[in-house]
Formats: sequence, C-alpha cells, structure tokens
Amino acid sequence: MTNVLIATDKPFAPIAVKGIRKVVEAAGFELRLLEGYTSKDELLQAVIDADALIVRSDQVDKEVIEAAGKLKIVVRAGAGYDNIDLQAATDKGVVAMNTPGQNSNAVAELAFGLMVYHARNFFNGKSGSELKGKTLGIHAYGYVGKNVARIAKGFGMEVSAFDPFIPKEEFERDGVKWIETVEELYKGCQYISLHIPANAQTKGSVNYALLSLMPDKAVLVNTARAEVIHEADLLKIFSTRNDFTYLSDIAPGNLSDFQGAYASRFFCTPKKMGAQTEEANINAGIAAAEQIVAFIKHGNRTFQVNK
Ligand code: 3PG
Repeated sequence: MTNVLIATDKPFAPIAVKGIRKVVEAAGFELRLLEGYTSKDELLQAVIDADALIVRSDQVDKEVIEAAGKLKIVVRAGAGYDNIDLQAATDKGVVAMNTPGQNSNAVAELAFGLMVYHARNFFNGKSGSELKGKTLGIHAYGYVGKNVARIAKGFGMEVSAFDPFIPKEEFERDGVKWIETVEELYKGCQYISLHIPANAQTKGSVNYALLSLMPDKAVLVNTARAEVIHEADLLKIFSTRNDFTYLSDIAPGNLSDFQGAYASRFFCTPKKMGAQTEEANINAGIAAAEQIVAFIKHGNRTFQVNK
C-alpha cells in the first residue's frame, strides 16, 4: 500500500490533518504521522517506509532523502522550499513540489500584526502611531506580496512594490506603484515588507547599502526568511541609526545581540507563526495531499520544483 508520511516539527492544526487523511485514504493510501519530533533520527526512521512525504519547514537533506528508500515524492506544504535538497531529490529520482499561494494570506496578515503591534508601542499604553498614510514597500510581489498589498490598501497605506520577475501590468492592475529598482523601493518607503525567497541570489542581499537608504523611522518587516538579511549589516544599522526597527517572524542567528541593546526597536515571534493558522494549514496540507494523489495516480507534476 502507498504510504504517505506527514513529518512536521511544527504540527498542522488537527482539522488540517483530518482533511489530509480524508484525501489520502479516499485514494486508497495509508497516512502516517510524525509530529513535533525532537531529533533527526526520528525523522530518518520514519521516512524509511514512506512513498510520499509532506513537510513544512522541516529539513529534507541528502541524508533524509537517502534514508527514504521508497520515496517518490516530497511536498513542502507551503511556499519556500529552501529546506529541501533539490539536487539530492533529483539524483534519487524523487519529485519535489511546493503548494504556492496556499498559506499566503496567513503570512500577509501576520506582517500587519507585527506592524500594528510595533506602531502601538508593543501595547505598552503610550501613544503610538497609525499605518494610514504611511509608505509601504513590498519587496517581491508574489502571492504573499499581493496579499500584503490588498490589506495595506485597507489600512490606507501608500503601497509600492518591486519585483523584476513580475510584469508591470500586474502592479498597475492592483493599484500598486511599480518601482523599477530595489534601491528606489527602500529609499521611498518607511515600511518595507520582505517576501523574497532564500536562494543563492538573495541570501544576505538585504544589506547595509540597502537598509541605509530607508527614510526616517524605518521599519523592516521580515516574514520571509532570516537568511535574506545580512545580519552583521543589520546590527550595523541598529548601531548607526536609533530610528530603525526590525520586526521578524524568524529569529536572527544571534538573537541575544538584538534582544539586549536594541530591545525597544526589535521584535521577533518566539516561533515562526506566519503560516500557523487553521486556514493556511488546511489549504496547504490538503493541496499537498491532493498533489501527491494526482502524481502517484496520474503522473501529474504541475507543482514540481526540481525539474
Ligand atoms: C512558507 O514558506 O510557506 C512559510 O514560510 C511557512 O512555513 P511553515 O510551514 O514552516 O510555517
């Protein structure tokens, strides 16, 4: 029998697992669950019998892929697949997929949660500020970026975006100001919301040169990946400007550097929370299950990322 394993260090909501189970069992497959595991050995053991694997930010490296002798497909229930060793998957003939767009509204809503929390002085009772009328720059205009733009307009923000991979017409259609260069985006916006993936081109790319362009009372919001920020440069900005704030859903490598001296201008969720809603779990989890069934039964490779 085809064996589908959900291996999630950060578990899906139970209602999402129920939905996944329904899809998997309706196809005549068996579902197994490894949730909240604490060691890589548990994962290596669990994947041995898996024909298909559903993960979130879980590390699916070469060792995991090699331990999974029967594996045909791994689906990252989410957008970013930087946690999967695509080369190792390709070398073993394993198809890797993501579920683009399925959790994007949840991530976008969290970006606003962070912005409001900060604008209201972390709810300390003192007079804060409003988002209405403020400039927001969206760095990368994919599924999450587009949801951020939609919500920002509801707040009455002035919305601009930069994305060299998206045609200008898409920005115009959404009533978002198209920005030609990344420097121009950072220069013109008090708030920057990051939505770039982590890859060889983007890692460390949000650096001192870029951040120093931001206007007064700059706020950088990161619900994407920690690695896209040049952390030493971020610390340099904190030390050279006392009007700079960093709000993040992913802890920096050296958290204590930020929590100490810069605590009033820094906030980080205790655990990555962007996609942690029932709705996002249901959407991404069920999409992953359906993609597995469509691939195993019909060879459908629509969302394959290791082509
Ligand atoms: C994604 O890439 O889809 C988001 O970062 C969510 O990641 P998570 O599933 O680990 O919460």
